Amino acid sequence: MSRRTETPFWNPDTLQSLLPTRIVGRQLIVFNRITSTNDFLKRAARRGAATGSVVLADEQTAGRGRLQRPWQSPAGKGLWFSVLLRPQLAPEKLGMISLAVAAVVAEVFSKFCRQEFQVKWPNDVLFESRKVCGILCETQIVQDEIEAIIAGIGVNVSQQPQEFPGELRDRATSLEQICGHPVDRQHLLLELLAALEKNLFGNLRSKLVLLKAAWCSRCRDFGQHLTVTQAPMDKLKRITTGVFEGIGDSGELILRLSNGTLQFFSAGEITLAREGWSPSSP
Ligand code: BTN
Repeated sequence: MSRRTETPFWNPDTLQSLLPTRIVGRQLIVFNRITSTNDFLKRAARRGAATGSVVLADEQTAGRGRLQRPWQSPAGKGLWFSVLLRPQLAPEKLGMISLAVAAVVAEVFSKFCRQEFQVKWPNDVLFESRKVCGILCETQIVQDEIEAIIAGIGVNVSQQPQEFPGELRDRATSLEQICGHPVDRQHLLLELLAALEKNLFGNLRSKLVLLKAAWCSRCRDFGQHLTVTQAPMDKLKRITTGVFEGIGDSGELILRLSNGTLQFFSAGEITLAREGWSPSSP
């Protein structure tokens, strides 16, 4: 009886030889199929994996998004990878990291596709209100210090509309649909890793100031009347409505309430209050 063998899409040796980086991806682990690259890298981080380590998979069988949502990660259709950062950063600045990653990714996509991409608080990259990339940053803090940040990045590269589950179909898109032609996943991955190294390694504190400005310039929601839902998966969810005033120094969303006071949110989900519509949240 013959056993069907799968030819892995990602070849770690080829990738290593093409990497334009000195830190990011120098330790690279590649899977044909894995539960979640974030889960794998979290365990590796606890065992001392080096900063810049990357875990990449062609398919995730239990990919995770924010708020414990599943993240669809079919084989051959996207970039599903995680990068380990070990920054010297105060834990209260953590919220800035997913914004920073989103700003970097949106910039790479904009150059790659020659189209303008937007960001949505806290962790989405959008094109014309449809989500094309989600970012899941998870942290290990030891004695009040950041030990590791696992930045998980999921990019929809080549799905056709009918390939997204029904509930996501009009809220998600892929780079291939946006560009109108096939996208070379390897080329895109190398661009992303290079941009992540340039922007998120070495003197991160000052880079975060620039990345916050870059994020704000791609956000279309300022001045909008928004609803922020905290603990959206919970029966006890809290809903607050107000006008999106800005982003705090730690990446918090600042909402002006109807009584004029400002409220800061470090987690939650936003929807446009008037239309009751949200482009994020797969
Ligand atoms: C979100 O939008 O809620 C975040 C989605 C993050 C998905 C990526 S894919 C690679 C990494 N591994 C995971 O299990 N999740 C992240």
